[in-house]
Amino acid sequence: MVENKIFTLIVKKITMKIAIGSDHAGISYKTSIIEFLTKQGHEVENFGTNSDASCDYSDFAHPLSEGIEKGNFEFGILICGTANGMLMTANKHQGIRAGLAWNEEIAGIIRAHNDANIIGIPARFVGLDLALAMVVKFMNTDFEGGRHKTRIDKIPC
Ligand code: RB5
Repeated sequence: MVENKIFTLIVKKITMKIAIGSDHAGISYKTSIIEFLTKQGHEVENFGTNSDASCDYSDFAHPLSEGIEKGNFEFGILICGTANGMLMTANKHQGIRAGLAWNEEIAGIIRAHNDANIIGIPARFVGLDLALAMVVKFMNTDFEGGRHKTRIDKIPC
């Protein structure tokens, strides 16, 4: 499946450094997304989890978010059952804007309007094909700035 999609879903930007993390509910999607992006020449660092055993999403969302805050990665991908636990954790970090996506259009809008640096994928509620398409849309979309910059500048507290 990933082999087929690679011909139609292309991240247009040159090599990007991507951080990815999941809990047990998102591990199979994480494995597929790593394979997909690596084959397109992107550098992907896996923050875990690395087994199917039940685990706590916050253990992975915090270190991944810190890596992005330090400037080590351009974007992050966080995957759990609903994505909510991952995103709630990531958004505690001042340097993070983590957005939930459940279709391709929203995956683009969280970049264009919210300058999201992390996409959250709800693995139990979207198929893998859609998850891959959302990652591509997210990575291919630029922040629009302007009125959206004014708004995101007011987020930190
Ligand atoms: C795990 O069962 C589930 O709670 C987790 O993946 C996520 O949905 C939490 O927000």
